[in-house]
Amino acid sequence: MSPVLLLLFFFFLLLTGTATAKPAVLRRGFYTQTCPEAEFIVRNTIKEAMVREARNAASVMRLQFHDCFVNGCDASLLLDDTPNMLGEKLALSNINSLRSYEVIDEAKHVLEQICPGVVSCADIIIMASRDAVALSGGPHWEVKLGRKDSLTASQEDSNNIMPSPRANTTSLIDLFRKFNLSIKDLVALSGSHSIGKARCFSVVFRLYNQSGTGHPDPTIDPNFREKMDKLCPLGGDGNVTGDLDATRETFDNQYFKDLVNGRGFLNSDQTLFVFAQTREYVRQFSLNQNEFFKAFVEGMIKLGDLQSGRPGEIRRNCRVVNWQPVEILLEE
Ligand code: HEM
Ligand SMILES: *[C@@H]1O[C@H](CO)[C@@H](O)[C@H](O)[C@H]1NC(C)=O
Ligand SMILES: *[C@@H]1O[C@H](CO)[C@@H](O)[C@H](O)[C@H]1NC(C)=O
Ligand SMILES: *[C@@H]1O[C@H](CO)[C@@H](O)[C@H](O)[C@H]1NC(C)=O
Ligand SMILES: *[C@@H]1O[C@H](CO)[C@@H](O)[C@H](O)[C@H]1NC(C)=O
Repeated sequence: MSPVLLLLFFFFLLLTGTATAKPAVLRRGFYTQTCPEAEFIVRNTIKEAMVREARNAASVMRLQFHDCFVNGCDASLLLDDTPNMLGEKLALSNINSLRSYEVIDEAKHVLEQICPGVVSCADIIIMASRDAVALSGGPHWEVKLGRKDSLTASQEDSNNIMPSPRANTTSLIDLFRKFNLSIKDLVALSGSHSIGKARCFSVVFRLYNQSGTGHPDPTIDPNFREKMDKLCPLGGDGNVTGDLDATRETFDNQYFKDLVNGRGFLNSDQTLFVFAQTREYVRQFSLNQNEFFKAFVEGMIKLGDLQSGRPGEIRRNCRVVNWQPVEILLEE
């Protein structure tokens, strides 16, 4: 940006009063006065999306993780690429993988009709994610709201931050610690893989060449491996998908039972039972679903608290920033 452009940009922010340089104070019932129907509208949208396709629950819930880890929960994930900005949708962990963006668009569309310019896309992700879990048989919790939507997105940051399905427990613990998330948070939040699917692309290295050894991961249960080899043969279609746990439409502790039995899908899943630092939590959650639910809710709230402290706005359309047309006009 040229200095003149920058000046104009900041003047514009000043004018519209959307710039907030410090973290927002999040609280329950943030929209009680300004948009009392907000939570109801989001929940209805998720319900309808799940009737269309049950997997929408998993896909929507995953958006919270991929949004919040990259510069805080600011809906940066939802911005489409522009000529000036490579967004996060095509980042390594997201391309051909993240889905159900249109479900968030649907909620936003209704909200803009009922209370225009009030509810942020970042908050929609947080509400939608909570609803997806609750509507899949998982716990319900109160969400804190009041987030702003980012003015930018960064493909590079996403590539640098988001973990690989090949990751081991040690590197996952280190990554989560950077976000003040504990070992228990890591294990509980991984339990989100109680719903949804993953591609063969994410698992073939583990089936045929674990850690570059030319051999499969030896910790896989033999019967499960046979099933996986059939689903994801060497050289097969990487886009074929398999269930992340044995009950993929129900949010329960089956995921942890699967791990105990050597039937975890991703390496990043199974490693939680292989490594001593996390094994006891996996065992505990496999035996006690309430313990899992309690820890999961704590983890989701901490994940939702992550903020960048950068300026933000309430986007009118979750895919584009509000002021973008102004900048394009000036550059011509
Ligand atoms: C601990 C590190 C994690 C890693 C390495 C990881 C990795 C992955 C991968 C590779 C997939 C499948 C992608 C594909 O093959 O297209 C996936 C799916 C999924 N992940 Fe994670 N994930 C992690 C943590 C989380 C967290 C914290 C959440 C939510 C709070 C989450 C929610 C989901 C969900 C719900 C799906 C299924 C999505 C669908 O069916 O569309 N994951 N994850
Ligand atoms: C875990 O993964 C990291 C990063 O890939 C690697 O450096 C480390 O050696 C691995 N640790 C173990 C114990 O396998
Ligand atoms: C983690 O907690 C420390 C100490 O409270 C704080 O300074 C830091 O900003 C937090 N980091 C994140 C990513 O929230
Ligand atoms: C397995 O991985 C290693 C290291 O990435 C690589 O050098 C080797 O060629 C791979 N082997 C096969 C059979 O793909
Ligand atoms: C999956 O499908 C997409 C879109 O058709 C394609 O671009 C991509 O290369 C495929 N990925 C794999 C791993 O086969």
